[in-house]
Amino acid sequence: MTAWQQLARGLADEVEADGATAWRDALESVPRHVFVPRFYVQHADGGWTETTSRDDGWMTAVYRDRPLVTELATTPEGHRVTVSSSTKPGLMVRMLEALDLHAGHRVLEIGTGTGYNAALLAHRLGSEQVFSVDIGASLVNAARARLTGLGLAPTLAATHGADGWPQHAPFDRIIATCSLPQVPWAWAEQVSEGGRVLVDLKPSVHAGNLVSLTRHADRLEGRFLPRWAGFMAIRDEDSAPETLVPAVDLDEGTRSATRLDPLPWSSLVPWFLAQAALPGEVAFGYRGDKAVFSTNDGSWASIGLKPDDTGEREVRQGGPVRIWDAFEAAQRTWDELGRPNWDRLGLTVTPDGRHRVWLDAPASGIGWDLR
Ligand SMILES: C[S@@+](CC[C@H](N)C(=O)[O-])C[C@H]1O[C@@H](n2cnc3c(N)ncnc32)[C@H](O)[C@@H]1O
Repeated sequence: MTAWQQLARGLADEVEADGATAWRDALESVPRHVFVPRFYVQHADGGWTETTSRDDGWMTAVYRDRPLVTELATTPEGHRVTVSSSTKPGLMVRMLEALDLHAGHRVLEIGTGTGYNAALLAHRLGSEQVFSVDIGASLVNAARARLTGLGLAPTLAATHGADGWPQHAPFDRIIATCSLPQVPWAWAEQVSEGGRVLVDLKPSVHAGNLVSLTRHADRLEGRFLPRWAGFMAIRDEDSAPETLVPAVDLDEGTRSATRLDPLPWSSLVPWFLAQAALPGEVAFGYRGDKAVFSTNDGSWASIGLKPDDTGEREVRQGGPVRIWDAFEAAQRTWDELGRPNWDRLGLTVTPDGRHRVWLDAPASGIGWDLR
């Protein structure tokens, strides 16, 4: 057994600490190091360090159950931001399990990235069953070369994944390894009835989760996965994504106080449910000692990061929609419902673009329409 094979076995053991997986053989057989010849680690000051195959520790790092940033791009403002990464293998396997793949299934992956997941799929299903697209042309070229070098030949293309890949439809499964604000109906049209779509639905940053949807004649419908995960957001161009930063005058607006923590990831489910009351994607950022939210209709809210001695934080809000009030209302509803977690939430998507989130069952009568 070679060094990488031993490391890959260790990776499979690490992933299986969460429970045995039918993907063990793929984890042991596909050399992750081929797909991650370099990765980047960000420091507290925002700078990045590159580790390549020439560096000590590269090989062992690649076979840990960790996500690795593999591609950076520079924004017009000169910031280097992540545009591609190799997903944490344990998460990848959790998603592949949720896809319930069987021999003979045709799969479309949105977000080829390094090509590692396409390789896992091709190893298990056969190359001819696997299709994968990425907006990044150089990413697709590099992935193709790595796959070919291993004797794998899934069909790849550099294209916008929101369109799916109609030329190769129908698929039995579509898996997206980037997050989307909405599930494109084009995907439903390219999935056979009874087939599945697995996607990280996030109308705003951190607001949403992976959802596994089954294709019915007139809708996509299914449940959110019990554990939260976050993927990088879909980009519209093969370049650094535009970062939504709140641009508001914080001196204006009404004042109030809150006892809630303003960081979206401290209340993931209510933050998601609040989206139903908000007019589109919410930008989130920091301004000094405040968390700031805004939407492009001019609504905004700022909340103190640190509570005062009584546990309260100052809230200021302006614009047509009170973003923080919407979040507090969602939090109250969620409390009244007994704080349901992701495993009690599901989603129905219809051809008119409606995204209906429901509690427990589609006809339970408790639900939220995303905008
Ligand atoms: C987390 S990475 C994917 C990891 C990949 N599955 C792997 O195994 O390495 C997310 C990928 O989504 C891609 N992406 C972003 N916007 C996209 C779009 N509009 N269409 C297709 N892919 C997109 C990014 O370029 C990035 O490579």
